[in-house]
Amino acid sequence: MELLRVDSISKSFGGVEAVKEFSMVQADAEITAIIGPNGAGKTTTFNLVSGVQSVDRGYVTFLGADITRMPPHRIQALGVSRTFQNIRLFDGLSVLDNVKISDASRLGYNMFDELLSSPRVRRREKEIQERAVAQLAFLGLDRYAGDKPSSLSYGLRRRLELARALMPEPKLLLLDEPAAGLNASEIRELMDTIQQIQLEKKISVIIVEHHMELVMNLCSTIHVMDFGRKIAAGTPREVRADAKVLEAYLGDMEEVC
Ligand SMILES: Nc1ncnc2c1ncn2[C@@H]1O[C@H](COP(=O)(O)OP(=O)(O)OP(=O)(O)O)[C@@H](O)[C@H]1O
Ligand SMILES: [Mg+2]
Repeated sequence: MELLRVDSISKSFGGVEAVKEFSMVQADAEITAIIGPNGAGKTTTFNLVSGVQSVDRGYVTFLGADITRMPPHRIQALGVSRTFQNIRLFDGLSVLDNVKISDASRLGYNMFDELLSSPRVRRREKEIQERAVAQLAFLGLDRYAGDKPSSLSYGLRRRLELARALMPEPKLLLLDEPAAGLNASEIRELMDTIQQIQLEKKISVIIVEHHMELVMNLCSTIHVMDFGRKIAAGTPREVRADAKVLEAYLGDMEEVC
C-alpha cells in the first residue's frame, strides 16, 4: 500500500536550489534510503516532508491526504515521525521524560482536566508512562530512565532520539544520518533495531545516510540525490552499478563500491 507520495517538490534558499523537482513513493513496511554527497538536499527533503520547512512547488501526500502545507505537529499526528541530523534532546529532563513529552496524544489535552487532575488525566498519564517505558525497553535504554541525557554516551543519546521518534507510534519514520558518529558495534545494533522497527512494529522507514554498508544491507530501494535533483533510484545492486551515481561520488568511490 502506498504510504507517502512526494510529487516534484522544490525548495530554494536565496540563490541555492536545495531541492529540485524531487519525487518518490514509499510503501508501508518498507525500508528505503536517500543518499547523495554533502549538500545534495537530503535533509531539506526531510524538512519539506515533515513540514519543518515549506515547499516552493510540488506536493506531498500521506495516506492519500495532502500534507503539503500542514504544520509539523499535524503531520506528526497523522503518523510521520523523524529524527534530526544533530541530536535534539532536553537536557534538563530525565531520559524517561524526554520520551514522554514527545507523545502526540498531547493534542486535545484539556487544561481544566489538568488543573483538576481528573481520573481521565491520571489514566492518560499512566498510559503514557507505560508506553514510554516500553519504548525505552525496546531500545535497551530502560536502565537509564531516571538519568539525564547528558550522562549518556553519544551512541545511547542517538538511541534516545529514536525512542522519542517512536513514541507517537508513527507509520513512517524518517531517520537523518542515524549512524553518524557511531562505532562499528553500535552501527550493527542500529541495523538490528531498524529491522525490528520494520518487522515488529510494521513501521515504514526512510533513511538518509552516508554509511553505505547500512544502506545497502537494509534498504529495498535507494534514491540518489545530487545538487538537489534525483539522479538515480533502484535496488542496491542497480544503484551501485549506475554511472551517474559513481560520477556524483567521484573521489569518494570506495563509499559506494
Ligand atoms: N536554511 C538554509 N539556508 C540556506 N541554505 C540552506 C539551508 N538549508 C540548506 N541549505 C543549502 O541547501 C543545500 C542542501 O542542504 P541539505 O542540508 O539538504 O544537504 P544534505 O544532503 O542533507 O547534506 P549533508 O549530507 O551534508 O547533511 C546545501 O547547499 C545547503 O547549504
Ligand atoms: Mg543533511
